[in-house]
Amino acid sequence: MCGIVGYIGKEQAAPLLLEGLSKLEYRGYDSAGLAIHNGTDVEISKCKGRLKVLSDLTEGGAAMQGSLGIGHTRWATHGAPSDTNSHPHINANSSIAVVHNGIIENYLKIKNRLLEKGYEFQSQTDTEVVVQLLDSYYKGDALAAIAKVMTKLDGSYALGIVFKDRPEELFAVRKDSPLIVGVSETGKFIASDVPAILKQTRDVYYLENGEIVRLTRNEVNFYNSDLEPIEKEMKTVQWDISAAEKGGYKHFMLKEIHEQPKAVRDTINPRIRNNDIVIDELNMSEEDIKNLKKIFIVACGSAYHVGMTGKYVIEDLARIPVEVDMASEFRYRNPILEEGTLTIIISQSGETADSLAALREAKEKGVKVLGIINVVGSSIAREADNVMYTWAGPEIAVATTKAYSTQLAAMYLLAMHFAKVRGTISGEQFDHMLQDLRRIPDQIQSILDNGVSKLQYIASHYVAVKDSFFIGRGVDYTTALEGSLKLKEISYIHSEAFPAGELKHGPIALIEEGTLVAALLTQEDLYKKTISNMVEVQSRGARVLAITNEGNEEAAKVSEMAIYIPNTDKHFTTSLSVIPLQLLSYYVAVGKGFDVDKPRNLAKSVTVE
Ligand code: F6R
Repeated sequence: MCGIVGYIGKEQAAPLLLEGLSKLEYRGYDSAGLAIHNGTDVEISKCKGRLKVLSDLTEGGAAMQGSLGIGHTRWATHGAPSDTNSHPHINANSSIAVVHNGIIENYLKIKNRLLEKGYEFQSQTDTEVVVQLLDSYYKGDALAAIAKVMTKLDGSYALGIVFKDRPEELFAVRKDSPLIVGVSETGKFIASDVPAILKQTRDVYYLENGEIVRLTRNEVNFYNSDLEPIEKEMKTVQWDISAAEKGGYKHFMLKEIHEQPKAVRDTINPRIRNNDIVIDELNMSEEDIKNLKKIFIVACGSAYHVGMTGKYVIEDLARIPVEVDMASEFRYRNPILEEGTLTIIISQSGETADSLAALREAKEKGVKVLGIINVVGSSIAREADNVMYTWAGPEIAVATTKAYSTQLAAMYLLAMHFAKVRGTISGEQFDHMLQDLRRIPDQIQSILDNGVSKLQYIASHYVAVKDSFFIGRGVDYTTALEGSLKLKEISYIHSEAFPAGELKHGPIALIEEGTLVAALLTQEDLYKKTISNMVEVQSRGARVLAITNEGNEEAAKVSEMAIYIPNTDKHFTTSLSVIPLQLLSYYVAVGKGFDVDKPRNLAKSVTVE
């Protein structure tokens, strides 16, 4: 995730910014840069790669003289990691420099308008439109120009801004991307995160959405979006450095679980325009979509589970046959890839060896490959014909949570888009589903807001179980697969997932006194069937935990404990029911004292077969 630090004060800015950026390295990044006002001009140094490269380039900051500046670590979203795409971005006459965290959702529209006006763009980033817009509105009143730009931007942003003709001022603004202001004896700071400035000060102000701050060497002035001055209360940060790097969470996994509303929102929102789904990067005409005969979804681990959910959703909505393969099988089984087939490779890292090999296999056989990828510029992203990025930001915990959730969102977008183009769902159904799709981030938030302490309590009951089974029917089975993997990989409890109807064909023999059976019931038409299976295992001694929709009181009667999720369209329930399962696994693993972020024998990116 991108990081921002800015400074104005009595000391040299560049070394302070480099040090601040180094405290944000844990967030993951692919390039970094600085803009320093040297009293006359705004100088820029930026490059792809580690901070060390930037530090060498600027002699540890000594080569950039000046006591006002902004710095940035970039996690690529729009445009691959490169020197040019790195921040800060600057306008043509180098009079305005900008660093940005977040995503400008309407950047293409703005860019086209600016191109018509004769603006030229250097990078592929969404951020560059901000600096060019500022250029077009800045007539000597910085605050007015910033406020005007804000009215034009959709999406999320935290911005740090320096003007060449204002060597005594640093500006910042935020919407849906965090930004803080720090005040020390020797200067004033802006930062996207507390750790960046914790060594310098603990005295901070938290900017709220739509607020602008103007920092000078002596003053800090806050304004609302109407440019009315506002008062803010200074807060004192109590965290120590290591807690701050995890945003106050005990583990990255917990932090990433809590980042899911934003990650899912960032993946969905830019693709909804005028009450329709627009997936520019798909590069498929309506004709291409209508001619689709088959889809292969190929992936590993949790990404494979997303593919399984995708199968249920795409087949039901768009009526296209979907085959889901584990990448390690697909590549060696000589799959039949004929004309009219689309292969979708799902991968967070974009580097998984088997998934990459599967991509090559499909391309070799002349089939188009769509990558659903989180890491911009990764191998799979580079080699796929088209890439639909998930905007989860860097995922640090080995066990995936937020990337998985964004991959699910990508599946829903594709399924609905295909269904609409192929005319397999009515306009009315599409509109209803779109409403429900948009509500998912808030619903995840409400599960997190209301469910954490309950899940902690529930988890404490299951810390000692030896065996566990996750069951469900339809998409609930695919959620069961993910819930089971989460539990086994971080808590080392033996766990398996089965379609609930499959139990009596063998697995039920394993049920004994005390076995945990997590039963998922979110498909109303299948409630009764799964309840029968719950009764079967309960009568053989299993401890049944139900995860079901609000209002399904029946499930509570045949279970030891029940977790309720908000109601949504039946195709989207995995996005909600998986959240308690992630929390359950997390708290069970914490209860057992395991290293949640780095489970034994596992690596974040599996680049070997
Ligand atoms: C499980 C997990 C793994 C990954 C799998 C694929 O929590 O993280 O199962 O989903 O290794 O990785 P990517 O998505 O990077 O291809």
